[in-house]
Order: sequence, then structure tokens, then C-alpha cells
Amino acid sequence: MIVVLTGAPGAGKGTQADLLADRQGYRKLSTGDALRKHVKAGTDIGKIAGKIMESGQLVPDDVLFKILAAELGPNSKEVILLDGYPRNLAQAETLGTLKATHPVKAVVHLDVARDELIARLSGRRVCPSCGSTFHITANPPKKAGVCDKCSSQLQQRADDTAESIAVRLDVYEKNTRPVLDYYANQGNYRKVSGVGTTEEIYKRLMDVIN
Ligand code: AP5
Ligand code: MG
Repeated sequence: MIVVLTGAPGAGKGTQADLLADRQGYRKLSTGDALRKHVKAGTDIGKIAGKIMESGQLVPDDVLFKILAAELGPNSKEVILLDGYPRNLAQAETLGTLKATHPVKAVVHLDVARDELIARLSGRRVCPSCGSTFHITANPPKKAGVCDKCSSQLQQRADDTAESIAVRLDVYEKNTRPVLDYYANQGNYRKVSGVGTTEEIYKRLMDVIN
């Protein structure tokens, strides 16, 4: 079954999905992470996606469906946390067509105000080796610029520039916001405040998922 973890860029989807995967054994499926792997490996998908992602726009739906189909697998019993999909109504409808094997049990929206999102994205640092995520003030690594887990040099994501952040937030309002209404009408949508410590937010998410 699927739990959709949705929210604007920087809302903390990845941070919380990692915690839920570690502690609950859920499987995290992040379309952004999957696309970045393709970009790094230079696959055909990566060649299409790289520039689009850097600009902050959405990668075409057919590319995303290929990724989704490849990553979902046949098992409908495990809990799959979907981070970053669906991002528009067409994707939500596509996901609906898979309900026999992958029903959407809950859609949890991490709600964070725009100013805070911008501060989070501008200060984010990521590890190119192990994927750990930090923030220069909210969640700094022990040694500045160095990953706590694997000691690699931390980087900024290519789409965490001021220009791309503005585009991503606008794309979210235009394309993804209607998806929230779509699920609210189906009755399986819950909004959770994404502001507070990661532990506080984790607890709110667990309450909703349970
Ligand atoms: P994706 O990788 O999904 O990016 P996003 O949606 O923009 O979200 P982010 O990963 O930036 O934020 P997050 O919510 O995961 O926050 P995080 O936990 O890192 O997608 C990237 C691109 O891929 C898209 O723009 C698009 O081009 C393409 N794409 C992906 N899916 C697609 C789809 N379905 N269709 C079409 N295109 C698609 O946290 C952010 C920062 O805040 C971190 O520094 C973190 O340490 C910090 N932080 C976390 N929690 C807190 C807290 N509670 N308090 C303070 N700081 C916090
Ligand atoms: Mg993320």
C-alpha cells in the first residue's frame, strides 16, 4: 500500500521519509532521488531530466511513469512512502489506475510557509556519496562542509539556487496544489504542520499514519 508524503519543495519530505524508513521499515520511493541517480549515471532518462530539474520545472509525465513502474514492484503488502509523486493531476490519476496492486491509503501533506521553505532550501547541504541531508543552521554537520556519516564533502543541490527555488515553489502552487484537493475529495488526505523539530513532525506523521 502507498502513503503519499506530499508538500512543497523544502517541506521536509525527504527528511521524514528517511526517518520513517529507518524506524518503521517502510520503503521510501523518492522520484527526485531516482531522477538524480539517472542524471548522475548519464542514462537516457537522465539526459532528458537534468536540465529540466535544474530549471525547477517538472520532468514529463511519461518519464515519471517509467520510473514509477520500475520502482514500485509487484508487492502491495509493504508500506511504500511516495515522496515527490504525484505532482500534478495527471500523475494522481495515473497512480489511481494502479489501485488494485498499490492502493493509496493516505496522503499526508507537510505544510510549511514559503519564507521558511526558502530558508530551508537555501541552507540545505547534501552528501553526494551517501545521500545524507543537512542544513547549515537547522541541522548542521559536526564539521562544517563534511558529511557526518561518510566524511565526504557536502554539496548544494543543483536546483537549490535562488532562481530555481522560486520556479519550484511556483510550479508547486500551480501544479501540485490541485492534487491536494483531488485527494481531499477522496477522503484520505491529512494536513500536518511541517514546522517544529524533526522529532515533533515525525510523531505527528506517525499519529496520522497509524
Ligand atoms: P525533489 O527531489 O522531489 O525535490 P522537491 O519536491 O523540490 O523537494 P526537496 O527534495 O527539495 O525538499 P524535501 O521536502 O524533500 O525537503 P528536505 O527533507 O530535503 O524533486 C526535484 C525535481 O525532480 C523536481 O523539481 C522536478 O524537476 C523533478 N521531479 C521529481 N518528481 C517529479 C514528478 N513526480 N514529476 C515531475 N518531475 C519530478 O528538507 C529541506 C531542508 O530543510 C534540509 O536542509 C533539511 O535539513 C531541512 N529541514 C528538514 N526538516 C526541517 C525542520 N523540521 N526544521 C528545519 N529544517 C528542516
Ligand atoms: Mg526531497
